[in-house]
Amino acid sequence: MATLPIARSTFVPMKFFIDTANLAQIKEAKEFGILDGVTTNPSLMAKEGITGVENIMKHYKDICNIVGKGDVSAEVIATDFEGMIEEGKILAAIDSNIVVKVPMIKDGIKAISWFTANGIKTNCTLIFSAGQSILAAKAGATYLSPFIGRIDDISWDGMELISQISDIYAIQDFDTQILAASIRNPLHIVKAAECGAHVVTCPLDAIMGLLNHPLTDIGLAKFLADHKKSNS
Ligand code: G3P
Repeated sequence: MATLPIARSTFVPMKFFIDTANLAQIKEAKEFGILDGVTTNPSLMAKEGITGVENIMKHYKDICNIVGKGDVSAEVIATDFEGMIEEGKILAAIDSNIVVKVPMIKDGIKAISWFTANGIKTNCTLIFSAGQSILAAKAGATYLSPFIGRIDDISWDGMELISQISDIYAIQDFDTQILAASIRNPLHIVKAAECGAHVVTCPLDAIMGLLNHPLTDIGLAKFLADHKKSNS
């Protein structure tokens, strides 16, 4: 059971990102009226069949155009410092809302530090420990992506990690935003909000699952039936 954080370092309402490269789903989330941003990763891009540098760049631009005002994470493929900087500069030039997503490895931390010094937003991905979260924040990452679902998959508690990072960031006054990732279901979203995540990034069906309650359906059916009875 996750504990509540002592405090949260950035007091803004939790943002909703959608974790997909599927343009139709991004449009649907936008039209639903709750979309604050998008995260992608190489697996999600491959799932949509987006290959080749030009197509990938165009796809990121298309995503940015749908989102409008809101951050869009685009992940580097390089794993060495120079390669990440080169790719990150190209990605950041696509649109002012692009956030360069960088893996939690030694050269990734060096790259985040460089991007931060050069005014480029970053998302440090593949986070599975509090120690990693401290390093990413020290390097100045804009966002930090702990992978909740993948931690739960090995029968650890992903939400414990969100709580722990939330406490550390508040105590240390780090302004890196905790972006709870690998969210798999509506309860993950509720728990992430409770544990102090600044952002959740989710599949569309996890967001839509928040709508559901049988008493809502029963109540609405009764309201409509009563209205029909008295108006017929
Ligand atoms: O944001 C990271 C996410 O795409 C990973 O999710 O479900 O593959 O663990 P999942």
